[in-house]
Amino acid sequence: MAKKIIFASGKGGVGKSSLTAGVAVALSEMGLNTLVIDFDIGMGCLDLILAADDTGIFNWGDVINGHCEPSVALRSTIGPKLLVAPVEFDESFTEDSVKEMIKNYENEFDYILFDAPAGVRGGFLLAAACADEGIIVSTPDEVCVRVGLYAGDILYSKGIENIRLIINRFNKRLTTQGHYLNIDEVIDATVLQLLGVVPEDKKLSFCSVTGMQSLENSKAKSAFFRIAKRLEGINVNLVI
Ligand SMILES: Nc1ncnc2c1ncn2[C@@H]1O[C@H](COP(=O)(O)OP(=O)(O)OP(=O)(O)O)[C@@H](O)[C@H]1O
Ligand SMILES: [Mg+2]
Repeated sequence: MAKKIIFASGKGGVGKSSLTAGVAVALSEMGLNTLVIDFDIGMGCLDLILAADDTGIFNWGDVINGHCEPSVALRSTIGPKLLVAPVEFDESFTEDSVKEMIKNYENEFDYILFDAPAGVRGGFLLAAACADEGIIVSTPDEVCVRVGLYAGDILYSKGIENIRLIINRFNKRLTTQGHYLNIDEVIDATVLQLLGVVPEDKKLSFCSVTGMQSLENSKAKSAFFRIAKRLEGINVNLVI
């Protein structure tokens, strides 16, 4: 039975999609059968980041509405399988219908990662209703930490008890100079267990153009592997 994990932040542009994709690729390369579901209805981008094959035309809304068989909606990518987001919200998308849709895939995969949209409504609430665990992605600044705390509270209110933190875009030099919160300050402010730290990495910012395959030999890719290993219960030192 797949472990279902939502990547959320509340605030937009924090790195949810990049980290969902990066961790999913790492899990796949570790031999774990991984599915990513894009919950950013109308603004999904994981097909680009994950360099999905361009033959598929269906999204998870089509599965809910019976327009295709569940297996037909799966897109192949450089690693995990992908269910792309519908282009617009439909009243048929309810917590129950999305849960039923996901059940089609639960036995086939080890991990199902949900990429939540910005904000705490719509696709965020649908994904939250279906997840077993949560990951709050936060950059090391006060605004992102506060919104992340709020998003985490909502996940908790939806019954998700295991909620962990990934600090994204960590920059040692700028943190030492006092421009950003340090790691302890982010952990203290969010009161969440740290799952990992992803450095600021130019190669990662190019992935929306070139796809994740350009991440080879990068610091971000190493960070994604450390996070994937921790998800698997393997002890890995914190590297910053
Ligand atoms: N660690 C990082 N280093 C460099 N660039 C990064 C890093 N993380 C994310 N980015 C860049 O930041 C931008 C926003 O990232 P991304 O789309 O993953 O955020 P998001 O939280 O999913 O945004 P949205 O809320 O709009 O869905 C992208 O251009 C991405 O490449
Ligand atoms: Mg996104």
